[in-house]
Amino acid sequence: MFAFAGWHPFCYHQAMTVTPVLLDVDPGHDDAVALMLACGAPELAVRAVTTVAGNVPLDKTTRNALQVLSLIGREDIPVGAGAEAPLARALRTAEDVHGESGLDGVKLAEPTFSIDRRGAVELMADVVEASAEPVTLIPTGPLTNIATFLAEYPRLKENIDRIVLMGGSIGPGNTTPAAEFNVYVDPEAARVVFESGLRITMVGLDVTRQATTGPKEVERLRTLGRIGEVTADLVTFSSDDYRKVFGSGDPPIHDAVAVAAVVEPAVLETHPMRVEIECESELTRGETVCDLRGVWGKTPNAEVALELDRETFFGILYRSLGELVD
Ligand code: RIB
Ligand code: CA
Repeated sequence: MFAFAGWHPFCYHQAMTVTPVLLDVDPGHDDAVALMLACGAPELAVRAVTTVAGNVPLDKTTRNALQVLSLIGREDIPVGAGAEAPLARALRTAEDVHGESGLDGVKLAEPTFSIDRRGAVELMADVVEASAEPVTLIPTGPLTNIATFLAEYPRLKENIDRIVLMGGSIGPGNTTPAAEFNVYVDPEAARVVFESGLRITMVGLDVTRQATTGPKEVERLRTLGRIGEVTADLVTFSSDDYRKVFGSGDPPIHDAVAVAAVVEPAVLETHPMRVEIECESELTRGETVCDLRGVWGKTPNAEVALELDRETFFGILYRSLGELVD
């Protein structure tokens, strides 16, 4: 049994419920960490990974996902390539943060397997339909694939337990003063998701900004074998670009927080509220307008994360990465 200060995973002799999950990603350094955390966590069964254009174009996010899964020996997980562009807008990418490749700063071997012929939406549908237990979707990029899946397969919503997404913010954005990147890139897709009627947990910048990786965290990561070293390199690269773009501070591993919230919901304090997505105004496009005080009197459509238990989060990260075959 691994024991970390602040968080003790299940005693492994206890019956542990395993949650079937599907990650929809745009790697991206923090998506790569999220993928490895999900694959290392015994509480999760990663049934598929789908890729979307976001941090970098689709061909690169897809290659990056294949490389990360090859690195950790998880060629058994099908990877479906999805949308090359948002539903109704031109793609906006983030090479300034993630580099040209989307994973600059780390040298990963060539992928050892290829994408699934079905593509993201069909793969998502097959996985959700075939699952004996309702599936949790964990999108960590623009929500284009998720919105398309919900539009094309509405009957499969009954086999989705919830959507735990990294995106949005109650407070300031990171791409504009109003908007967080994932929602900014495809606000129409985000509106479809938040209006889907499904259980949603919004893991926004308000909490992910607390998941910063400084020298202490990098040092600990480097004690976790080869995978820990790669993760340390990923976050170390991000820090240089993060400071260039955002001026200071250590880079947050935004996406990993959404995965940890499925491993251990107690890592977040959330509050139910109505969230509406701005799609009309160019000034505030992509803003997640969160009715924290209920002034609209509308039915809440999301559990919005307010606080992160940093110690529990990093305990989950270290434990999960430590589980990966080295
Ligand atoms: O705003 C942060 C989000 O945008 C993260 O998912 C990061 O990977 C980028 O996609
Ligand atoms: Ca991402």
